[in-house]
Amino acid sequence: MRVLVVGSGGREHALAWRLARSAKVTEVFAAPGNSGTASLGTNLDIAEIDIDGLVKAAADQSVDLVVVGPEVPLSLGLSDRMGAAGIPCFGPSRAAARLESSKSFARDVLDAAGVPGPEYRVFRSASAALAYAEHRNRPLVVKADGLAAGKGVAMCVNLEDAKTAINTCMQDRMFGEAGETVVIEEWLRGPEVSVFGFTDGENLSPLVAAADYKRVGDGDTGPNTGGMGSYGPPESWDESLAERIRRKIMLPVIREMATRGSPYRGALYCGLMLTDDGPRVLEFNCRFGDPETQAIMPRLVSDPVEAMMACATGTLYDTDPVEWSDSPVVAVVMVSGGYPGSYQTGLEIDGLDGPVADDEDSLVFHAGVRRAEDATERLLTSGGRVLACVGTGESVEEARNIAYRRAGEISFDGAYYRRDIADLRSGQPAATR
Ligand code: AMP
Ligand code: GLY
Repeated sequence: MRVLVVGSGGREHALAWRLARSAKVTEVFAAPGNSGTASLGTNLDIAEIDIDGLVKAAADQSVDLVVVGPEVPLSLGLSDRMGAAGIPCFGPSRAAARLESSKSFARDVLDAAGVPGPEYRVFRSASAALAYAEHRNRPLVVKADGLAAGKGVAMCVNLEDAKTAINTCMQDRMFGEAGETVVIEEWLRGPEVSVFGFTDGENLSPLVAAADYKRVGDGDTGPNTGGMGSYGPPESWDESLAERIRRKIMLPVIREMATRGSPYRGALYCGLMLTDDGPRVLEFNCRFGDPETQAIMPRLVSDPVEAMMACATGTLYDTDPVEWSDSPVVAVVMVSGGYPGSYQTGLEIDGLDGPVADDEDSLVFHAGVRRAEDATERLLTSGGRVLACVGTGESVEEARNIAYRRAGEISFDGAYYRRDIADLRSGQPAATR
């Protein structure tokens, strides 16, 4: 089979890497891809939002399955368009992708499905939102309704913060249309987990979970980022929790989407807070997480194409069960100095031999890496999140040591990574140890 992976980050390198290892796959394309996907197959110079270009390329290259990494092309209807062209596509329709592309829609679906979340209210007017924040006068989370490249969520410890966040969305229109509606939520406390499953709109695979480190600094300090690392299975995860989330959260949402005439097919990502009152949903996303994918793809034992194809064609029930390994995997993200603020690009990366230098238990997935277009073909940084060093092992500690050993071998000017990813002693900031 010929597969096309859409996207250009570390998640897409990890997906392409796992697909390339499938006995069913003969050819991997990526659009636009990065230096990592180029080492596994052919990069096509088509932007992930160029829906016409992607459909044409998939047809021209006789692609048998399209695998979509990011949410934006899904929210633009890529899956619908591939379907109309007769090309199976792993990723939900535009209507089903609203679970991620509209937070108010998602809350409505969760309520209808009886799924627990934070207390929340939806506002279309700034004055009503401000009045509500004033009335609540306690820590709140203010969210732009639409897609805002991961920047639309403001954690507001006090009323001042909440006012700023509401004004940023609704008056300054920082996120354009995406912030015309805001959702204001109760601030939930507890460990957070990202949970993923394959679904064909009716059936749901066994679940896999990973932790995601969002803050830039050790001990969860500093600004939020696109993700500084991930590991799984998380410490807080066990079979009974998985079963509870499956039966009480994910299947009811899948059923509700089907009832609404927008069956959800693809990777279903549920972001949860494990509160003292049990798991509560922070968000649903319509894709795999980044950087969680870098930590879960090495754990996918069963064939990825079979599962993805079954989701695309509504036949998950008939295929061999999806199987995840319990072996721990740790992914440490190396970023450019200054990230998530401004940073330099074009810096030479040392110590990155193979594109996925794969010595079985250690992998490197490229994100913001490109190959120089001169005779040197050096690897250069091209983004904030540059790469992820991944270790697998018998224990979290072993996997962690392998990932960090690998990170220690790679360098570029200003390279930075957190030192406490998957450090199970944390809970207290690493800086104080
Ligand atoms: P979202 O894009 O909705 O997942 O929000 C991004 C991040 O903000 C989440 O992964 C959480 O860390 C945090 N977050 C979102 N909603 C809440 C909430 N209601 N309570 C506490 N933290 C939240
Ligand atoms: N890791 C968070 C996300 O992919 O949205």
